[in-house]
Amino acid sequence: MAPSLAWWAAADRANMSAMAEPTATTPDEKTRYWRTSRVELRAAGFDPDRARNLGLVVTVASSYTNAHRCNNRVGRITDLVLDAVAEAGGQGLVVGTPAVSDALTQGTPNAGYSLVSRDLIADCIEVGHRAHHANALVVISGCDKVGAAAMMPLARTNDPGIVVYPGTSSPGSVDFGPWAAKGNNLTILDYAEARAAEEAGRISPGELAQIERCIMPGSGTCGAMFTANTMSSITEAMGMMLPRGASHPADVDAASDVHDDVKAHAAASVAALHHLVAEGIRPRDIMTRHAFENAITTAYALGGSTNLYLHLLAIAREAGVVLTIEDINSIGARVPLLANLQPHGPYAMVALHQLGGVPVVMRELLDAGLLHGDALTVTGRTVAENLAGVPTLAELGDQDLVRPVADPLAPGGNHITVLHGNLAPESCVLKLSGKTLERGQFRGRARVFDSEAAAMAAIRASEIVAGDVVVVRNVGPAGGPGMPEMVMLTIQLQGRGLGADVALITDGRFSGVSHGILIGHISPEAARGGPLAAVRDGDTIVIDPGNRSLDVDLTDAEIAERMAAWSPPPSTVAPGSVRDKYVRLVSSAHYGCVQ
Ligand code: FES
Repeated sequence: MAPSLAWWAAADRANMSAMAEPTATTPDEKTRYWRTSRVELRAAGFDPDRARNLGLVVTVASSYTNAHRCNNRVGRITDLVLDAVAEAGGQGLVVGTPAVSDALTQGTPNAGYSLVSRDLIADCIEVGHRAHHANALVVISGCDKVGAAAMMPLARTNDPGIVVYPGTSSPGSVDFGPWAAKGNNLTILDYAEARAAEEAGRISPGELAQIERCIMPGSGTCGAMFTANTMSSITEAMGMMLPRGASHPADVDAASDVHDDVKAHAAASVAALHHLVAEGIRPRDIMTRHAFENAITTAYALGGSTNLYLHLLAIAREAGVVLTIEDINSIGARVPLLANLQPHGPYAMVALHQLGGVPVVMRELLDAGLLHGDALTVTGRTVAENLAGVPTLAELGDQDLVRPVADPLAPGGNHITVLHGNLAPESCVLKLSGKTLERGQFRGRARVFDSEAAAMAAIRASEIVAGDVVVVRNVGPAGGPGMPEMVMLTIQLQGRGLGADVALITDGRFSGVSHGILIGHISPEAARGGPLAAVRDGDTIVIDPGNRSLDVDLTDAEIAERMAAWSPPPSTVAPGSVRDKYVRLVSSAHYGCVQ
């Protein structure tokens, strides 16, 4: 009599159980759970006999989606990684993750899903990796939150792993207006500000249409030192990505294959992974306190996004590294601004890649004594060993993209600064990027809004004028929920010529694209009873970078009196939804919004 299906399934499980090691410690022990279930392998299209003798079984964490240009090349790169793993005698197992594009969500009711997705992506990779019994990981990143999440499961599982970056957008050019002077360095920032300028009547619809056609010829992340490239640069500086892996273009244009540098990066990353496994080098061997300090130093020299605060705090927790918001501030404060990249400068990320990439900046920092050269990296070598062959700025000759430490764009203490005050008892972050608030203190009239949409309506109605401080509250980690980025507001202010004369403060956050007089991450947030909830129209707000303070011109008693009448805003999330769970778990921005 033929055995029943139940018999086969039971026998197979028994077979697996007999070989199971609940406390598997070697790569072979881990992967046997996946490699030895012959019926499952055959049904899934694998050759059970080949599987038995496989080398590495690698989780290939793939944030592919065809929905947007930030991650639409990830599918192709996933295939490249799978092929490279197979050529080396191993097997890649794909784990999918969401990939939220901020370009699709910013300024919409779904903007809060972006930050929510960071921890969800990390969880997806952990679940897939553990459930498939793989013994190493290649994480393919992409848009902001995938880039932020990429190192989290590596540190969490501490299985050998490496991050591959799909690449940034190639830039473009036009021959009119202020954009002509930038040459072939136009990015999505230029389009966004041109759109606001057209809305304000400062350029024609035809000029906007030309910018739309010319500035972003193909796929890739936002093309300058915005959040995705900040996180790719941090990953490289941390040692978890191969040198010069953080800056390549994703492609030449929308019709081309992925860029040759992406192909080379993917193949070299798989080779490096094998070396890591052979040498027994795990993520926490690399992601040390020194590595975090290198990442912070490099990100500040590059002029990175304020989001680095949230994400580094979350990554450090996963790595078991003690790191506070004040640590990031004090490490960053000694770092001069070196890279002349957008949003504070004219250049696109691809220009930095052509100059030699992030290693050029790191070499200058190392030579100035600002990096820990002994930190280990995924090459199996130290930072200093990796940088030994990188040309110095003197050897590169005449260029104004990367400045020397001795003659920076701005001295230390002029990029992102943590402030405190009666509006931010925990903390908030001010982004200076070396060139705003030259006048020192900014005092202005509060214009208070309880949503981004209400603030946008006021700006578009020309109700916001020089000297105003736009206050956008109830958009924090819990209030948003998901702490949406106020980038559409900052773009409107810039496009209307108000960037230097109007401040924007919020318990939400900013895109790396944002620039101006901007304070975000105000903690505690208004929706959880932070004093931002007490501010009223017409109050005087005082921003003082010199004293590292943000205050409303009210006494403690006046704030307390107003807060006595305060009640939390009503919830807008559906019970049981991902946002409902997020609101219940999320910590303040002061702690990186970790759950
Ligand atoms: Fe995806 Fe900017 S929106 S990288």
